[in-house]
Amino acid sequence: MQAMTRKLHLNLFINGRGHHEAAWRHPAATPRALTDLAYYRELALKAEAAKLDSIFFADHLALADDLDHAARGELEPLTLIAALAASTRHIGLIATASTSYGEPFNLARQFASLDHLSGGRVGWNIVTSWMAAAAANFGRTGQDTQAERYARADEFVAVARALWNSWAPDAVRDDRAGGIYARRDGVRAIAHHGPHFDVEGPLNVPRSPQGRPLLVQAGSSEDGRRFAARHADAVFTAHLSKQSATAFYGDLKKQAGAFGRPPEQIVVLPGLSAAIGSTETEARRVLEELNALAHPSVGLERLKNRFGGHDFSHLPLDHPLTVDDLPDPKAVEASRSRAEAIVAHVAATRPTLRQLLASLAGARGHFTMAGTPEQIADLMIDWFEGGAADGFNIMPPVLPDQFDRFADNVLPLLRRRGLFREEYEEETLRARYGLPPVPISPSPSGSPCPPRADGVQFSRGEAAVGA
Ligand SMILES: Cc1cc2nc3c(=O)[nH]c(=O)nc-3n(C[C@H](O)[C@H](O)[C@H](O)COP(=O)(O)O)c2cc1C
Repeated sequence: MQAMTRKLHLNLFINGRGHHEAAWRHPAATPRALTDLAYYRELALKAEAAKLDSIFFADHLALADDLDHAARGELEPLTLIAALAASTRHIGLIATASTSYGEPFNLARQFASLDHLSGGRVGWNIVTSWMAAAAANFGRTGQDTQAERYARADEFVAVARALWNSWAPDAVRDDRAGGIYARRDGVRAIAHHGPHFDVEGPLNVPRSPQGRPLLVQAGSSEDGRRFAARHADAVFTAHLSKQSATAFYGDLKKQAGAFGRPPEQIVVLPGLSAAIGSTETEARRVLEELNALAHPSVGLERLKNRFGGHDFSHLPLDHPLTVDDLPDPKAVEASRSRAEAIVAHVAATRPTLRQLLASLAGARGHFTMAGTPEQIADLMIDWFEGGAADGFNIMPPVLPDQFDRFADNVLPLLRRRGLFREEYEEETLRARYGLPPVPISPSPSGSPCPPRADGVQFSRGEAAVGA
């Protein structure tokens, strides 16, 4: 039988009016408000027409302090994808939700419901909420450490998995004549008792089409990778070079292997923010126009947040930086891997603060480029065939214009190389990402979750029920 050609997985990351921090001011950006469902429906239908795997919405639980010069105030992602599920047919719908400020029973219920509403097309981007300011919105005096956030996330996801598995696929009988709605032994309590959560269960939503949402994660630090290797079906990641993307890719697949997971069952999608033009000059002009519209205070606010509130405003804008100008990433409890990437970038290129802010203005530390469709396609194929990616998190600098250019000009080149689908074949998002169905346990006692790296055992619930 002819081996299946490995194909690219492509997700559209919808963020404001585009990923460049000044996109909201650019003439090619949508005129619509960030609270206008029509804007997101238009993009979702464009992504579906382009046969992308999925679209994705980020979420932060605090308003950044740069509202005067940055487009802020977007819709809550789970609510938004519920609306988009009704007006789309195939596109995957990935929403972000936090494990640091929420309860597993509520979130498991919401995602199971969204999976039913969408016919098995939802994904959950699991975040621990690196933004320190979020704590004050949940009655906390300070942010938990990164390690504490991941430990809570580990248990949170284990409980959610157990709850999604608390209904057998055939539990609902709906036998009107016989008067039996569901078979009692098909729905089981999880009786979970752990350091962070006590959850009796079962869930009060029947098993969803996928069994559970596609689990996505986007932390690249040591703790982040271990968490991803254990739980994630797909991983979003930010790299400023192919070299660091390749190292990350290899390490993550290896760590997943240590949990008994085949490499193809963890899909790695680096971010790519490409300005596309019919010539390279035209493409560069788009980035120059955007950089000219950017206000330095926005970049400084973002940098401050990534480093957990460290203030950089004392540094002269046009003086070459050294790593001593930046906090030690190991001490950063906010976005550690991003801090690591920025410090490595400063060490390698010694930019001025203005140049660093400009390089981050495009896509916050994800790979940014300007070029012709051929140049963009060549780069994508080089990373894909070079062990750096299973696909990409597409981050157009301006929306919808730069996504239209990508769909109309880059995708045909990838299809001509047989590297991207012509038509949708699979029903569910998990299948779309090439993942096997969630194992169906005979009764929701199921196969246990992979053991935790630190050996911590939750009492009965998770160990007996997680799948
Ligand atoms: C593509 C992408 C999307 C992300 N979306 C969110 C988000 O919506 N909300 C959030 O709090 N963090 C988000 N993050 C941040 C990660 O969840 C994580 O906190 C960050 O990468 C730091 O991880 P680390 O602590 O393992 O280094 C995103 C990261 C990436 C790469």
